[in-house]
Amino acid sequence: MQKWEEQIAACESLEELEQIRIELFGKKGYFAKEFESLKKLPAEQKPQIAKELNLAKNKLFALLQYKKDQLIAKEIEKRLQEEKRDLSLLKISSLKGALHPTLYTMDKIVEYFIALNYAIETGPLVEDDFYNFEALNLPKHHPARDMQDTFYCKDGKLLRTHTSPVQIRTMQRQKPPIRMISPGPVFRRDFDLTHTPMFHQVEGLVVDEKGRVSFANLKFLLEDFLRYMFGDVQVRFRPSFFPFTEPSAEVDISCIFCEGRGCRVCSHTGWLEVLGCGMVDPNVFKAVGYKDVNGYAFGLGVERFAMLIHRVGDLRSLFEGDLRLLEQFK
Ligand code: DAH
Repeated sequence: MQKWEEQIAACESLEELEQIRIELFGKKGYFAKEFESLKKLPAEQKPQIAKELNLAKNKLFALLQYKKDQLIAKEIEKRLQEEKRDLSLLKISSLKGALHPTLYTMDKIVEYFIALNYAIETGPLVEDDFYNFEALNLPKHHPARDMQDTFYCKDGKLLRTHTSPVQIRTMQRQKPPIRMISPGPVFRRDFDLTHTPMFHQVEGLVVDEKGRVSFANLKFLLEDFLRYMFGDVQVRFRPSFFPFTEPSAEVDISCIFCEGRGCRVCSHTGWLEVLGCGMVDPNVFKAVGYKDVNGYAFGLGVERFAMLIHRVGDLRSLFEGDLRLLEQFK
């Protein structure tokens, strides 16, 4: 008995303990044999010896169970130690999220116009030819209508190529005066350093009674807006053409990388083109049944702004979700 108790106490592993259990309680184990030999004893000795044997058996069984629990607890403790992670190495700051540069830029643009009481309008991404082209005075032969540039659906609908159709939808929905911007995604069949098949634009439209809205207003607004976005830059309006505005202009800012001296980013011109604008073409008003009004409109690419603000070299990297790029904007 003493011998077994010592063996159990000295046992170091579950395997060893299992071995002892078999030796004690197995079919051919110690107790099986002892009870077997009990049969050979004289009848008067049997009860006493059997009682002692049973006591010993219960005691050893309990000791074995207790030891087993101890060894399992030790095993768990050992494993926890081995698999322990040093949590102090985990930098909480590296888990902080941040706005994507495109979204950050979009928010900044929207904030500017909200402060001026512009409404935010939206329209469908799958558009009709009428809203995307026809009503915007984009004639049938216009290159933007080309299969090369526009994603067409089988039913003749298309993915809007710009946010300008929201101008039409807004004017159809309500009477002048209108002051609105419309941010959202647009789609074109393009893919290179400065073009992706999906990108974001912000459209702007102001319409009021004839004589209340002028190109001078537009110029003041955009100069102020661009300085809000890019800091102390020079702003220049260049005559241009858009079917939905007349006159039309493209707007440049002095290059924020070289301050107008000329560098690779501005193709050594000192200027960066940032948006298109103009006075709303009378044909557009005709398409929505507006009379005796005038207005101005503008449109810009959000990713282009984001690239300039955050100095991102390749437009496509804004779409890749690469954490090495995104973590720089935390
Ligand atoms: N819709 C034009 C484009 O996608 C951008 C634009 C230019 C919008 C002039 C306007 C505007 O509202 O007046 O290229």
